Amino acid sequence: MQISKRIKTLSRSQTVEITNLSRCLKNEGIDVISLSVGEPDFTTPEEIIHYANTMAKQGNTKYVATDGLPELKLKIQEKMQRDNALSYDLDEIFVGSGAKQVLYNIFMALLDPGDEVVVPNPFWVTYTEQVKLAEGVPVIAHTTAENEYKLTPKILDQFMTEKTKILVLNSPNNPTGSVYTREELKALADYLDDKDIIVIADEIYEVLVYDGEHISIASMSEKMKKKTIVINGVSKSHAMTGWRVGYACGDREVISAITKLQSQLVSSVSTPAQYAAVAAYDMERTFLDEYNQLFRKRRDNAYKKMVELPYVECIKPQGAFYLFPYFKDTAKKCGFNTVDDFLKALLSEKHVALVPGSAFGYPNNLRLSYAVDEDTLNEAMNRLKIFINEKLENIRK
Ligand SMILES: Cc1ncc(COP(=O)(O)O)c(C=O)c1O
Repeated sequence: MQISKRIKTLSRSQTVEITNLSRCLKNEGIDVISLSVGEPDFTTPEEIIHYANTMAKQGNTKYVATDGLPELKLKIQEKMQRDNALSYDLDEIFVGSGAKQVLYNIFMALLDPGDEVVVPNPFWVTYTEQVKLAEGVPVIAHTTAENEYKLTPKILDQFMTEKTKILVLNSPNNPTGSVYTREELKALADYLDDKDIIVIADEIYEVLVYDGEHISIASMSEKMKKKTIVINGVSKSHAMTGWRVGYACGDREVISAITKLQSQLVSSVSTPAQYAAVAAYDMERTFLDEYNQLFRKRRDNAYKKMVELPYVECIKPQGAFYLFPYFKDTAKKCGFNTVDDFLKALLSEKHVALVPGSAFGYPNNLRLSYAVDEDTLNEAMNRLKIFINEKLENIRK
């Protein structure tokens, strides 16, 4: 059968592929450690599961409103006000099947062929692929480690054209773990003040900030709020990746457009899953504090071990659950031309799965997810160290 050009040219998600490959190897009995996954290693808190189960048993198993379960939208409204000082009417809130699906709807609803979307690099590859699906043009704005891979007005200015329609801003960031400060966001907001551009602020890792605080660019000014669509969800904040609940808050015209699209795509998000998200927002704040503490400890351990490796350079991530070290020199000294080749050999010889930076448009780096328990991380880092030392030893011989 003839597959469409649209799908033929679409890249597969490399992170999903590596995770699947690790799973297959594990099923074959190979002792693979995967530090490639973008999800917490534990299951959803019991009370969330219990509430979803109860609501389903009570008969809440039918379609609900296309733009989201009213109870959940109220919780999101409350959360945005409390945590982000942003007030939205209910018709400015949309619930979709995970942040990923919400983003897809937004690109589809906003882009006409040829419209440009500025995506800072390194980037979560879904942005660029979804932009292409919507016949938009991703414009890659390169950032560097010197500036913790953050976009500045100066960099952004080099990529703005009369066709620029959207800027994607992701903080805390996947894959770098960088978090924009208030001053940095203010500088970007000032730059954008007189520009007719929509900002998609992906804040899915909001609760995972270890140094400093999470700030939404939408909160910089009333004008900025009008230009911004905030994306968030419960996947990363409550260990709920499998429930598939994410949302958008912003301009009601955009919300109405994505709801129209949703009515032909999904009808409405899984009803029990939306009740689960209601329960997530009802949980005590202490859950999030403990969650944050746990990941901070993991960050510190992973970072310490990473920077001890030879020739590696790594910024200390302030949020999310990833390290994004520069690895090119290590790969070269170990006899590999590319970081990709190094990682393939690491997986086949030491059974450790990491994601190459090429999956994020940044081929000289790699991404390590520390959303695993301490023993698993220590074992993986030990294998990585042994692998590097063996390769260096072989070259010296
Ligand atoms: C930056 C970023 N945005 C959005 C998502 C998607 O979240 P969800 O699982 O809610 O679709 C991810 C998941 O990896 C992500 O890393």
